[in-house]
This record gives sequence, C-alpha cells and structure tokens, in this order.
Amino acid sequence: MPEPLAEEVGRRRTFAIISHPDAGKTTLTEKLLLFGGAIQLAGEVKAKKDRIQTRSDWMKIERERGISVVTSVMTFEYDNHVFNLLDTPGHEDFADDTYRTLTAVDAAVMVIDAAKGIEPRTLKLFEVCRLRDIPIITFVNKMDREARNPFEILDEVEQKLALDTAPMTWPIGQGKSFSGTYHLAKSAMRGPDRETALTPVNGPESDKVAGLLPENERETFIEETSLAVEACRPFDLEAFREGHLTPVYFGSALKAFGVRDLINALGELAPPPRAQVADIRTVEATDAKMTAFVFKIQANMDPNHRDRIAFVRVCSGKLQRGMKARLSRTGKPMGLSAPQFFFASQRQIADTAYAGDVVGIPNHGTLRIGDTLTEGEALVFQGVPNFAPEILRRVRLEDAMKAKKLKEALQQMAEEGVVQLFSPEDGSPAIVGVVGALQLDVLKERLQAEYGLPVSFEMARFSVCRWISAPEKPELERFIDRHRGDIARDLDGDPVFLASDQFSLNYEAERYPDIKMVAIKEYH
Ligand code: G4P
Repeated sequence: MPEPLAEEVGRRRTFAIISHPDAGKTTLTEKLLLFGGAIQLAGEVKAKKDRIQTRSDWMKIERERGISVVTSVMTFEYDNHVFNLLDTPGHEDFADDTYRTLTAVDAAVMVIDAAKGIEPRTLKLFEVCRLRDIPIITFVNKMDREARNPFEILDEVEQKLALDTAPMTWPIGQGKSFSGTYHLAKSAMRGPDRETALTPVNGPESDKVAGLLPENERETFIEETSLAVEACRPFDLEAFREGHLTPVYFGSALKAFGVRDLINALGELAPPPRAQVADIRTVEATDAKMTAFVFKIQANMDPNHRDRIAFVRVCSGKLQRGMKARLSRTGKPMGLSAPQFFFASQRQIADTAYAGDVVGIPNHGTLRIGDTLTEGEALVFQGVPNFAPEILRRVRLEDAMKAKKLKEALQQMAEEGVVQLFSPEDGSPAIVGVVGALQLDVLKERLQAEYGLPVSFEMARFSVCRWISAPEKPELERFIDRHRGDIARDLDGDPVFLASDQFSLNYEAERYPDIKMVAIKEYH
C-alpha cells in the first residue's frame, strides 16, 4: 500500500448536514465554507443559489417556492483536512434524493434549533443515518436567541432519538448574553469564531469565562458546567463511530460562535472514508485500485446542452483524469476525460481524487444512479436505495404526435432520478412514479422547458407499487402471467407489481407468500 495514498485518504472527511428546514443549515454551510477559505464572504451560498436559479427555467420552482431541489457538493480544506460537504434538498418531497446522498457520506452534522429541539424532518433523516450507522455530530444552533436549557436539549436528543449524548462544549450564556463556548473536558473557552484559538482557562469560574456573563447568570453557569462534567456521559470515540453516541456542540451559525468547535470536531473525531460493501468483497478506502459509485445524476445546468453530470463517490484508489474505468452494469470501458471537483463558487477539473471525494463526471446518459466504476474488477457496490413511489400518474400529452419524443424525455428524466418510470407489460402507456408531489411539478416544468412538451397528469388505476421477486424463477413467472395487467417493468427491466390500493396489495401478498414484495430496491 503506497504511503501517500493512505495519507490522502486519512485527510478526507465526507459529510452531510441534516436538519429540519429553518434550523440554520444554509447559514452554517456558509460559515463552514468561510472558515475553509472556500468563499470570501459569508452570504455567497445564498447568492449562489440565486445565480443557479436564474440559469435554467425548470429551477423556477425552486425560486418561487424558496426550496432547494438540487443536491450539490462543496469541497474545502481546513487544518490539513479535505472536507467534502454534500448538500441535500431541504424539502421532504425530494426525500429519495436525500437518502441516496446519505449513502455517500461517512458522517453527518445534525443541526437543531435550540428553541425547537428535535423536529419531524430531523427525526426522519436521523433514522436514515441510523440504518447505516453513520456517526452524528450534533450542533445546537441559535443559542444567541431565546433557547431551551441545554440539559433539556440533551435529554430530548436521548429520549426522541434513543441516542446517547456527550456535551463537548457548554454555552457561555444564552440569548442576549451568549458570548462563547466553554470546553468541558479541556477547561478552555472560545469566543467569537473570528478568534481562532482555544483559550485555556482556570475552570468555569475564572474571570475569562464567568466574567463574560452578567452577574446574575454566573452562578447558574458554574453550576451547570460542573453538573455537565459530573453527570453527563463522557465522550467515547468508539461509541460515536459506531453511531451510538453523539458529541454535542452549542453555537450560533449566524453570529459565528461554535462553528470552529464543530469544524475541529469534524477533523478530529469524524471518521476518514469508510470501507464499502460490494457484492464480492468489502472495499477498503486505502485499496490501491480505483472503485467508485454513482449516487446522483443531475442535468446540466445549461439547457442548451443535453449532457449530464453524474456525482460519483470515490471508494478506493485514485480516480485520475484520463483514466479508463470499467462500468460494472455493462462491463464496458469508459474514459474519464473530464472529471470535475466542486468548490463553493466554481467547478474545477479534477486531476486526482481519493476515497471520500465526490467528483462530477459529464456524460451523455452512460451513467446511471447506483452504477459502479472500477479499474477492471467485476464488482458492484450495494446499498444505493430506490424507494417505491407514493404517487403514480399517467402522463397526458397535449400533442399526440409527440409521443415518441415524450418517451425519450421520460426515459432521460428517469435515468436522472427525477421520476421513476414503469412500462406496463400489457403495452399500455408508461406510468410515472414519484415520492413527493413537487417532483411532478419539476417533471412538468422540465418537459416544457427542455423538450417543448406541454403535459398534464392523470390518475392511474394504481396507487401502490412493489418490486417483486421469488426464490424460484417459475414461481415469479406464474405470478406475472396471472397478473399481466398489473405488472410493469422499471428502468432496469425489473418486474413491479401495481395495485389499486394497499388492501389489494396485502391480499395478493397473502395469496402468494413465495413472492417477495419490497418497497425499497437497492440498485445493483
Ligand atoms: P435552513 O437552511 O436550515 O432552512 O436555515 P437558514 O440557514 O436559511 O436559516 C433560517 C433562518 O434562521 C434565517 O433567518 C437565518 O438567518 C436564521 N438563523 C440561522 N442561524 C441562526 C442563528 O444562529 N441565530 C439566529 N438568531 N438566527 C439564525 P430568516 O430571517 O428566515 O432568513 P434571512 O432573511 O435572515 O436570510
């Protein structure tokens, strides 16, 4: 194993931020990028959002509804670490996209609003992280506002998430008097994040700390910190890395307090790129040969070009510009002539990427979500999920002459993961499926803007669908034969059973116990 490879891998931290809308994810992202030197001025993340939104018509939806649809990745360096921050759509209608992005990270930062505690979307995203044992660092944001008591917040995390907590810092004051963070184990404090250094102090009662607070708040602060040291769980690296315990940091993204604590925690505590499970073996991040998988496809921002960017997470070895990779799904070689890195405000050609890095690979439809790329080995990564849609519709075309064009357009949208496409076995027109209603709006906008196809949607006869399989092929064939009018094929040709409602789905499942019906398909 060449040393420099292990060193490069060891420097990488690939993470996502999970939170309920409005908890402060965007503000925190801006601050992280600012400290990472990736942007000059805080505020550019939002400015960038605006710029992108004007680039293409279909993003009008984002602008009008003030939501972020597009997953992107931002790379920055801080303190000799390379951070890859994978952004996720905030709106729950794009949940499948978010879940797939979480398959590409090694850690997550959970942002909690200090006044609101654990909110529904945070809980849901946390559950996805738990399924994959993704270690979580908690950032309790908005301490500069009226906030709950820190013990109460810790307790809520423990109760609602069944996750052990270890407070690493304690807020020096709350609301108006919030003036920094006190490090419980190190007996040190940090003021506003402009001041980089952690200042050692003589306990919480020292003038440097308690002295920052109004007199009537000092005693409570000293009592609370002593109680936190005595009564709270100490940090345990192993429990954190296994996903059983979360270190908790307090701060204010807006006022830039506690953000350096967080970024240091990501560097010091969060794990380097993890080993990834493939069908034939487990791939270590430091293995010499390149492997990678696609977790997201995005249409080119420029509507004049039909090419797409595949977001690829490197799992081992070196991904180098110009190299030839093997695409596992087809077994065919593929030249990686122009892989790209993403920084806050620009893209840059990537010469070399290591495990944990995310690169964009421009292509004309060769790559699909879940695809594995290797240096020749016939191996396939497991675990990029595809969720059964909750809404099924037929697409109605205003101009029937354009049916062929619609077919092509839907195929492309499905390959990008915008919608799922099901072709009924009986030859009737294709059915589109989505997890959230806003995805239908995106589809409609894009069909109009990019293909000149005005469409509307009609209810389909079905409302539920499941992927089906059976231990023996003849059993599956028999089931398909008997239900021909209710069977469709997905993009990969895998069979799907369509039912009018949950009741009839359950009924068929009981009648055919050998047929496995699943709501989540893992790409393979
Ligand atoms: P999101 O991406 O998680 O949805 O949240 P975002 O960062 O956009 O923050 C939501 C609102 O909360 C914003 O206010 C933002 O300024 C505010 N905020 C974020 N972090 C903090 C913090 O640490 N302290 C305080 N006091 N406020 C914070 P807004 O009024 O909705 O937007 P804007 O007009 O200020 O941009």
